[in-house]
Amino acid sequence: MDIFDKVVNNMGALGQFADIGYGYYFFPKLEGDISNKMKFKGREMLVWSLNNYLGLANHPEVRQADAEAAAKYGLASPMGARMMSGQTIYHEQLEQELAAFEHKEASYLLNFGYMGMVSIIDSLIDRHDVVVYDSEAHACILDGLRMHLGKRFVYPHNDMEKFENQLKRARKLADTTGGGILVITEGVYGMAGDCGNLKGILQFKEKYGFRLLIDDAHGFGTMGRTGAGTSEDQAVMDQVDVYFGTFAKAMAGIGAFVASEKRIIKSLAFNMRSQIYAKSLPMPMVIGSLKRIELIRNHPELKDKLWTIVNALQSGLKAKGFDLGRTQSPVTPVFLQGGIGEATQIVADLRENYAIFCSMVTYPVVPKGVIMLRLIPTAAHTLEDVSYTISAFSEVKQKLDDGKYSSGIVPPVADKY
Ligand SMILES: Cc1ncc(COP(=O)(O)O)c(C=O)c1O
Repeated sequence: MDIFDKVVNNMGALGQFADIGYGYYFFPKLEGDISNKMKFKGREMLVWSLNNYLGLANHPEVRQADAEAAAKYGLASPMGARMMSGQTIYHEQLEQELAAFEHKEASYLLNFGYMGMVSIIDSLIDRHDVVVYDSEAHACILDGLRMHLGKRFVYPHNDMEKFENQLKRARKLADTTGGGILVITEGVYGMAGDCGNLKGILQFKEKYGFRLLIDDAHGFGTMGRTGAGTSEDQAVMDQVDVYFGTFAKAMAGIGAFVASEKRIIKSLAFNMRSQIYAKSLPMPMVIGSLKRIELIRNHPELKDKLWTIVNALQSGLKAKGFDLGRTQSPVTPVFLQGGIGEATQIVADLRENYAIFCSMVTYPVVPKGVIMLRLIPTAAHTLEDVSYTISAFSEVKQKLDDGKYSSGIVPPVADKY
């Protein structure tokens, strides 16, 4: 068997649709400044697909800070990995500010959240340790665990009874191997929008003796009184041992960070392979992130505006009878009944006839027969955007209930890969 033949013959769960929806459902091109309205295939759309929660992507001060830093330092600077030649006072300053924001002793920057998380996990544990993790953990956590040579026990999403059962098994095993226990959860689950039950998890901390790592990609900047995240929201900041946040969402940038005790950050800095063997974050992103964190700290009205839009959208949709599942965060999933055919027709109808751009999630991410339209409200949206969207969604739901969407996949005028 030739590897290339095998790969093209089995394109994978998503790849099998590559030629049907390329450029439309997959790899669509949104053009223009990142905001509530952007262009798609030449037409202006109301966009609900971007994790620009606080509207920072196009904030004038952010744009200026990014541009000035790029003009002053270029994108190449600093060259090399942090450990070898890529260290700067700005990287250190950003780490200090992030640590202070998270009420932790120290933090360390990560080039990409995804690779960073893989290496955090890889650096914290060895084959003697046991991991207990939530079944809906993000792919970056699962990939980190793929490298783990010891045992791991998964518990059904947020099921605290099963969690304790797995902790019991983990404790027993760790006692025989001489290892420790690492528990991993997300702060906000980015698909369904519900939160990890941090309080529930932590009630077992003393009894079973574990360390808790949380991935708060969607909670950082959006949750908690100051925006410090889900751990602040659940009043457990001091009990979360390792906090992970990304710059790719509320910070509207790229990169990420991990925050913890000083001795742990020191160890991570010398052991995270994806950081040791990769180039340091470029200066414009670091200086731009300093501006972003300053805005998050000093302008709580950005988060207030986000939540005004979130509350209006979620309560308005619920009042119209929509099922939003169990969301507790800005992430707004709208659950409908139907297969992938209906899902493609709904998304195409929304784009072509209502100029609304949102993303769909179908099997295998959600169960068969379920369609999830995922809306991400942001501080860049308006209350008019919300009311327009609620009435458009109501019309679409009526059409779905009336059987106006058939089960055939709509191949829009798709580009060819
Ligand atoms: C829960 C979660 N963790 C990690 C990541 C990865 O972050 P990054 O985009 O910085 O690589 C994401 C982003 O998509 C995410 O949703």
